[in-house]
Amino acid sequence: MILHRVLLLLQILPGLLIVSAYNTKLPCHFPAIFNFGDSNSDTGGLSATGLVDPVRLPNGETFFKAPSGRYADGRLLIDFIAEKLGLPYVEAYLDALGGNFSHGANFATTLSPILEQNSTLPLGFYSPFSLAVQLHQYLQLKIRSQLIYQQGGIKKCMMPRPEYFTEALYTIDIGQNDLTAILFTSSPNTSPENYLQVALQRFATVIKEIYRAGGRYFLIHNTGPLGCLAYVLVRPPVGPEQTDETGCRIFYNALAKKFNAMLNETITKLREDLPAAALTLVDVYSAKYHLITHASKYGFEHPLEVCCGNGDNKYNYNATARCGQTKTVDGVDILLAKSCKDPQKSINWDGPHYTEAANKWVFDRISKGQFSDPPHPLVHACHQS
Ligand SMILES: *[C@@H]1O[C@H](CO)[C@@H](O)[C@H](O)[C@H]1NC(C)=O
Ligand SMILES: *[C@@H]1O[C@H](CO)[C@@H](O)[C@H](O)[C@H]1NC(C)=O
Ligand SMILES: *[C@@H]1O[C@H](CO)[C@@H](O)[C@H](O)[C@H]1NC(C)=O
Ligand SMILES: *[C@@H]1O[C@H](CO)[C@@H](O)[C@H](O)[C@H]1NC(C)=O
Repeated sequence: MILHRVLLLLQILPGLLIVSAYNTKLPCHFPAIFNFGDSNSDTGGLSATGLVDPVRLPNGETFFKAPSGRYADGRLLIDFIAEKLGLPYVEAYLDALGGNFSHGANFATTLSPILEQNSTLPLGFYSPFSLAVQLHQYLQLKIRSQLIYQQGGIKKCMMPRPEYFTEALYTIDIGQNDLTAILFTSSPNTSPENYLQVALQRFATVIKEIYRAGGRYFLIHNTGPLGCLAYVLVRPPVGPEQTDETGCRIFYNALAKKFNAMLNETITKLREDLPAAALTLVDVYSAKYHLITHASKYGFEHPLEVCCGNGDNKYNYNATARCGQTKTVDGVDILLAKSCKDPQKSINWDGPHYTEAANKWVFDRISKGQFSDPPHPLVHACHQS
């Protein structure tokens, strides 16, 4: 009986091996995640800095049942990635009350651009923690954590093992705030093309620096369909603007696609420059756009409408009454925007960000590899094409 099964297995195996090349390779072992980015993957960084009010409920209501520093009702793509790799959620580097970096660290903060901006919090708009600043934080963590690790003592078990810096998965999701910088704030004497070129040169420099520090495995998300997000949709049109069948603004999505095409070229070039690196580019744009334009097919309603908002417009979005924002009336804090009845059916959480349900849907698509280049599942992201 056992012999029969073995024989059967031997007959099936060669077929399996031919079907898909990566099946011949073992799944990767990533003992840590180091993440760089903006609010799409901020697990509490900006909230911890004190540059803004701490994130309040109803943020966190679906999954953490408390505010978690994330601008969402629950988990983000980075959280699903950590779960899938069997790792703890990646803690924000800037969170002084957390600080367990034994399996990685998260340098992403909400409103982070690739290129540093002149207008930064608390007086201006953007996060001062641009991609270059996040790189320097990472390099500092690497040096200091290794010293702490070697010295031993109480903090040793909260530091990554020295070899993890090479074995880790480096995840990057950034660019959305550079697009808004171009569209909403950039000086008119810089063309979008020019800005994006400089930004992607910076992006490449940062990847090369991580590589020089020992990083090898990179999972890079491209930017989503900006023109489908309520915080963009409420802006007055800049000319005779067109919308697609769903109501997304074509002009804004075209800029996101332009960024993504240039990101793709940048990564193709990086594969030549960094021969020992495995760089996976994930087309998050297509996954998100498919969800938004086929929302009802997947059980979602009103794909452009914000779940947690308070706007007397069709998007339910109001930039001065944001999700979790409060106003003090007679010494009592009053929430300016409440959550919708069923966040499971919403795609957009609060204007710029997605709900946990949408993030889960996107993760289930992108983690299998059909939106990735090379087309490996997430757990094979250590392999080159
Ligand atoms: C910031 O200000 C400097 C000096 O005024 C200027 O050269 C630069 O282009 C500005 N950068 C941005 C992103 O606006
Ligand atoms: C840090 O996290 C690791 C892995 O989850 C755990 O084993 C360790 O006990 C934690 N250390 C502290 C001090 O919480
Ligand atoms: C990047 O460009 C190549 C063609 O040069 C294409 O095959 C691939 O799908 C693109 N990847 C993404 C994620 O857009
Ligand atoms: C936005 O909220 C403010 C109160 O914070 C209110 O005065 C204003 O009318 C609202 N605007 C829209 C478009 O809903």
